[in-house]
Amino acid sequence: MEAIKIDVSKVYGFIPKDEIYKLKDKTVAANKALHDKTGKGKDFLGWVNLPSSISEDHLADIEKTAARISPEIDILIIIGIGGSYLGAKAIVEALSDTFANLKNKNDKPYALFAGQNIGEDYLTELLELLDIKRYGIVVISKSGTTTEPAIAFRILKAHLENKVGTEKAKDLIVAVTDESKGALRMLADQEGYKSYIIPDDVGGRFSVLTPVGLVPLAIGGFDIRSLVKGAVDMENACDQSVPFENNIASQYAATRKALYSKGMKIEILANYENKLHYLAEWWKQLYGESEGKDGLGIFPANVDLTADLHSMGQYIQEGERILTETVISVATTKSRLTIPSDKDNLDKLNYLAGKNIDYVNKMAELGTMLAHVDGGVPNIKIEIPKISAYYLGQLMYFFEKACGISGYLLDVNPFNQPGVEAYKKNMFALLEKPGFEEETKKIKERL
Ligand code: PA5
Repeated sequence: MEAIKIDVSKVYGFIPKDEIYKLKDKTVAANKALHDKTGKGKDFLGWVNLPSSISEDHLADIEKTAARISPEIDILIIIGIGGSYLGAKAIVEALSDTFANLKNKNDKPYALFAGQNIGEDYLTELLELLDIKRYGIVVISKSGTTTEPAIAFRILKAHLENKVGTEKAKDLIVAVTDESKGALRMLADQEGYKSYIIPDDVGGRFSVLTPVGLVPLAIGGFDIRSLVKGAVDMENACDQSVPFENNIASQYAATRKALYSKGMKIEILANYENKLHYLAEWWKQLYGESEGKDGLGIFPANVDLTADLHSMGQYIQEGERILTETVISVATTKSRLTIPSDKDNLDKLNYLAGKNIDYVNKMAELGTMLAHVDGGVPNIKIEIPKISAYYLGQLMYFFEKACGISGYLLDVNPFNQPGVEAYKKNMFALLEKPGFEEETKKIKERL
């Protein structure tokens, strides 16, 4: 199997290799604790062996649902937020033709998202589009009670029922939620929607390979089998039995920990293929929510290059030296476009005539990496052979495994997110939600 690779050699100028290797035993122990379920948050480790436990029957069932719904719709609305949104969004963005909707490509439903914000204009504009399009809905919420997707679903469900009738709407809605708990489970059972279960032991940000990601991606026409295959191969490659020296998840986790201990408090994930923007958004949630607690954790940030070299490049090169950069480098593009020669050469680009665009991009990547290292920013390179469902499966599992190990190296529980409740409590108090009367009184006194 060709696999993604990691190169941490451009960190050694900042932290000697043996200092990273001093973390070897702890890293190996952390990986073992994930497999043995002996560490913090041990009830949420269902993702560790998830790829290899996905059955043929499960995939076939999801594909059957996709084959039933896809031909009936032009647009698939995927409703969810956080871990119930970002995985599918990352894959849709990475694998789609950027201009598919403007090219009127109708071979598969066009995936759009709702419930990832509370934007009134966004939802209104979406409804206007849905007035004139055939559409279906996948509504995703593990708790089944999250306010943002619940509001979006209430509105879109009513719109769809109004448009196609209550009975037909039931055929076009799929729910992905808990097996027995939560309002969405009750609603799905009551309405008789086709539904899929999110396993109890897999938290939102680790759930892309559960029905949370697989169902909307299959209906959207993406190759879920290759995605899963990539993840299975990476599950094996990052297994606890794989020695530290060859284990890329362990290498990444140990290097990040060493960098953090040296004061690198911000990690920028950089891409040179801007289709990976949402992959970085997914990564930010994975690492930010898993590590940012107990007053600890690297702050995950991201840049789309070379675009952001013309905005954030100055800071990265010369700002406060608390940054480390991780580049996702894509070895080959799927298309080839050559720069033409021009007889007048007024733009002085003839020196590039005959070269393809990706060659220029690669030189920008190399030059930037060297400049940033010279400027005091350590660099980790993660190379993927190409952007495909298979390699995204590898990459996402790799990041998940490294995140679990990394959280244990930091000695936090990487699988909870107590901090996200604070805003909800205030919002419910301000909205005067029943049951929050005391909080409402208190918050009003502060205004
Ligand atoms: O990672 C997480 O747990 C969160 O981001 C959740 O996925 C997010 O809050 C959505 O929750 P739910 O799926 O319960 O609606």
